[in-house]
Amino acid sequence: MAYSDLRGFINLLEREQELARVSERVDPNLEITEIADRVVKAGGPALLFENVHGSEIPVLINHYGSMRRMARALGVEDVEEVARRIEGLVNSEAPGSFLEKLRMLPKLAKLSSAFPKTVKRGKCQEVVLEGEAASLDLLPVLTCWPGDGGPFITLPMVFTKDPETGKRNVGMYRMHVYDARTTGMHWHVHKVGARHYAEYEKRGERMPVAVALGDDPAITYAATAPLPEDFDEMIFAGFLRNTPVEMVKCVSVDLEVPANSEIILEGYVDPGERRTEGPFGDHTGYYSPADDYPVFHLSCITHGKDAVYPATIVGKPPMEDCYIGKATERIFLPLIKSQLPEIVDLNLPLEGVFHNLAFVSIKKRYPMHAHKVINALWGLGQMMFTKIICVFDEDVDVQNVSEVLWRLGSNVDPKRDVMFAEGPVDVLDHAAPQALFGSKMGIDATRKIEGENYHRTWPEEIKMSADVVEKIDRLWGKLGLE
Ligand SMILES: Cc1cc2nc3c(=O)[nH]c(=O)nc-3n(C[C@H](O)[C@H](O)[C@H](O)COP(=O)(O)O)c2cc1C
Repeated sequence: MAYSDLRGFINLLEREQELARVSERVDPNLEITEIADRVVKAGGPALLFENVHGSEIPVLINHYGSMRRMARALGVEDVEEVARRIEGLVNSEAPGSFLEKLRMLPKLAKLSSAFPKTVKRGKCQEVVLEGEAASLDLLPVLTCWPGDGGPFITLPMVFTKDPETGKRNVGMYRMHVYDARTTGMHWHVHKVGARHYAEYEKRGERMPVAVALGDDPAITYAATAPLPEDFDEMIFAGFLRNTPVEMVKCVSVDLEVPANSEIILEGYVDPGERRTEGPFGDHTGYYSPADDYPVFHLSCITHGKDAVYPATIVGKPPMEDCYIGKATERIFLPLIKSQLPEIVDLNLPLEGVFHNLAFVSIKKRYPMHAHKVINALWGLGQMMFTKIICVFDEDVDVQNVSEVLWRLGSNVDPKRDVMFAEGPVDVLDHAAPQALFGSKMGIDATRKIEGENYHRTWPEEIKMSADVVEKIDRLWGKLGLE
């Protein structure tokens, strides 16, 4: 089911008792963080702050903050439904590589429902503010943590276009608000927004940028999804919601944005301009240090009447973004499996903040098979950032961290089973000796077989005999032990 807009989703959350309205006056400076942090860690509801100091606009937060709400954000009961849809398409018809299969998705899902369509008018343009009237001071932008460099827009869909091909990209890149008209543009060097910007810089041209805040949450989710570089996130959003995303032309820049967004920031980024961005209390649980990033200049704000401002906070896990990441793990697993069919399951544990840790189970067929899987994952899209990959046999439940730790300790001879590699690391990795480049570790925690430098007999795992289990099952009720 597709939501017509963010308010459609808010209504659903309210009906399903997944939303709490807060009418008490709160400050977007730190106070909303403290409340949202407590609520997300307690497994509480989405929060709609209706009385926010300094702004007329209410703040919605924690609306992705559980697996249940994440599923409802994507219009399903369980995120696995989306994964199964993708798996069905990939298995039935699409030949080719991981990326080719991803590209095939909209075709397989029937073109008409996936492709965005342009409409003349959008709710996001009910109010148009240009010139002096366009001011970021209108927005209840959160200052999230005490050591932050200022307020940050934390759930933006940043729209840009490749100047050569005209192809659109949408990425979620936080925006450090410097003043009423300028922000930082924190697209990491590995991301598509940064690539587009590099192309504009080469040409010495000003880059148009539009930022959408709040829509059908499936559209916002698509901005975070690790899609191939030239894959239009709005097609992916159309696939997720089974309904095309309606796009409308911006007022002051040559870009289109989702017509039913709550708020649009239109503007540009100039070539060559840099300003200190950060520090920012990040999803690693640490502050990411200040660094130089390009600068977004605001030229126009458009918004719907009674707009709602969507936000999130990141910090020590578990936080709201963990559930966004978990949805990605489930949704992209069928595509990873299509490339590496020996993979049974994957767990990117919340504590690993997605780029630090991956637990993978495989159907092992030959000596050193785990090493092949580890290397292949490091070559697969944004999985390249994964710092530590641990591989287990197919019968290990990698979602069960207790079992994972038991097998890891038991099955590994560190000298033989640990491999190191070097390569690009996530911008947020603070442990690497230098920014952007560091080492990665692969651990083969599978049972060792012939050809893997194991010269003993692997011990048998302890299991009760089936007939005894059956007998005790039958007896259980009579034992008075319930
Ligand atoms: C809440 C949230 C905030 C994010 N902030 C950033 C950010 O500031 N910079 C960045 O490069 N990626 C950030 N990401 C990750 C990107 O959105 C993600 O890697 C996305 O796939 C990038 O899109 P692209 O491949 O089109 O560049 C964030 C993700 C989430 C969920």
